[in-house]
Amino acid sequence: MSDQWYKKAVVYCCDIDTFADSNGDGVGDIQGLIGRLDYLSRLGITCLWLNPIHPSPDRDDGYDVSDFYNVDPRFGTLGDFAELLHQAGNRGIKVIIDLVVNHTSDQHPWFQSARSSPDSPYRDWYVWADSAPSDRHQGMVFPGEQGETWSYDRTAKLWYYHRFYKFQPDLNIKNPAVREEIKKICAFWLQLGVAGFRMDAVPFIIEETEPGNANPPKDLDYLTDLRQFVQWRKGDAVLLAEANVEPDELVKFFGDAGGSNNRIHMLFDFMLNGQVMLALARQNPESIIEALRETPKLPAGGQWATFLRNHDEVDLSRLTAGQREEVFAQFGPEPEMQLYGRGIRRRLAPMLGGDRRRLELAYSLQFTLRGTPVLRYGEEIGMGDDLYLEGRDAIRTPMQWSLLENAGFSTADSGKLVRPVVDSGDYGYEKINVTNQRQDPKSLLSWFERMIRTLKEAPEIGAGSCVHVDVPVPEGVLVHRAEDSTGTMLFVHNLCTKDAVVDLSSVSAEAEFPNDILADREYPDLGKFDQVPVAGYGYRWIRMRRCS
Ligand code: NOJ
Repeated sequence: MSDQWYKKAVVYCCDIDTFADSNGDGVGDIQGLIGRLDYLSRLGITCLWLNPIHPSPDRDDGYDVSDFYNVDPRFGTLGDFAELLHQAGNRGIKVIIDLVVNHTSDQHPWFQSARSSPDSPYRDWYVWADSAPSDRHQGMVFPGEQGETWSYDRTAKLWYYHRFYKFQPDLNIKNPAVREEIKKICAFWLQLGVAGFRMDAVPFIIEETEPGNANPPKDLDYLTDLRQFVQWRKGDAVLLAEANVEPDELVKFFGDAGGSNNRIHMLFDFMLNGQVMLALARQNPESIIEALRETPKLPAGGQWATFLRNHDEVDLSRLTAGQREEVFAQFGPEPEMQLYGRGIRRRLAPMLGGDRRRLELAYSLQFTLRGTPVLRYGEEIGMGDDLYLEGRDAIRTPMQWSLLENAGFSTADSGKLVRPVVDSGDYGYEKINVTNQRQDPKSLLSWFERMIRTLKEAPEIGAGSCVHVDVPVPEGVLVHRAEDSTGTMLFVHNLCTKDAVVDLSSVSAEAEFPNDILADREYPDLGKFDQVPVAGYGYRWIRMRRCS
């Protein structure tokens, strides 16, 4: 019997400030989110991941925290947050929050104190150098927006390290007091009732930065220690990490104590994400097949978190330059659609030309490939982006609830909104909104509800094994299967426009009462399996066997 809830979760990422504004000040808030929990419950999600909720000067969408023990007053109070946890819990929804402890805001009182005097108790909480480090122009995460990773602080008369923007000084993880404080932060939020953390920038947290060394050692054991602490405080709490590292490094982040995972429970599958984008761009699943074949085996308890889009750019840095160009050509051909030379700042719906069949195909792939699916708010209705906004803000526009002014997101004057709503074109709120789609059984939202319900009927998906099934198929078709002690599912996805027929007779012996539990259309009964049709951009979820 397994009780690893995160392996069967459907995660929904939500940025409070652009979700729902309850008090008409133009900024989304916790009460607004509470008011939408029934919507999320109907959608079928089981875990809410909240982008940073803490007080912040908000120069990096909250990823620049100035107080780890509170919520941003624009969002509400700690009392509101406790109420959110309670109300979400009533609906069987767990809540995880972003834990951003690689760095703080430069406005954080710790940094203000640290820079003010060599005698400050916080001086050693940050990473300093006496003279300009030779590697200060290396390792930038935001090329073009960030000129260096070490900046001079005139108050301290020292150089300080910042892996990200200049206003995000890195905490000094070598300092035991910093490690203790991070535990205290985790303990505080766990005590309030969160179910775990999405840990930001994990490869950088564990870096033991030294001036002049662009490749410093990493203290992976720190993750073992933190995991143990978190688990003692709350047995079923999870750590879900952002660690976009080389494939052979990944397993170290999961940790392996005699076959069992003892560091991070879940890692975002950046590798698969890039390969899925490439496969969609080429209309050919080869890159997915290769990714499935080459991924390291995870220790027990370890799990991937699978996504198509998140709150950042589509990160194609793990593809070769040539492959990246292929994806750019299909999904982000204009310079203003690209970011940092490695990514695309668009939402999925516009990337796929708003083609409903292709969108279903893409999400069907995401939800049936290995791991726990993570959705970003608005994906379920096919929201678009606003390329007039800067950088990653293009994909962070307010949720489109209805035809009401400001898409039903807020009653404030439109000029006061935290970000403008998308109000024109194919993705404007008059065309794309929850209210319209809720009433339409054929809408993308209704499809998502049905798909997630179906997923819950097939527990082997995501939690079980996920392997490519090597049968002869026409170009463009992927066959894979998911299996565990509860049963076996087989999936056929056609990534190209041409209808196809697949010969699955070599696996037909495994089928007990095969039938489609989800498909892009009604197909004829499965028969002998030697001629299984799948339409262009079509997909079939075939139940092969059920053990209980
Ligand atoms: C990764 C987050 O996803 C991104 O949005 C943020 O800017 C950086 N970490 C810095 O915290």
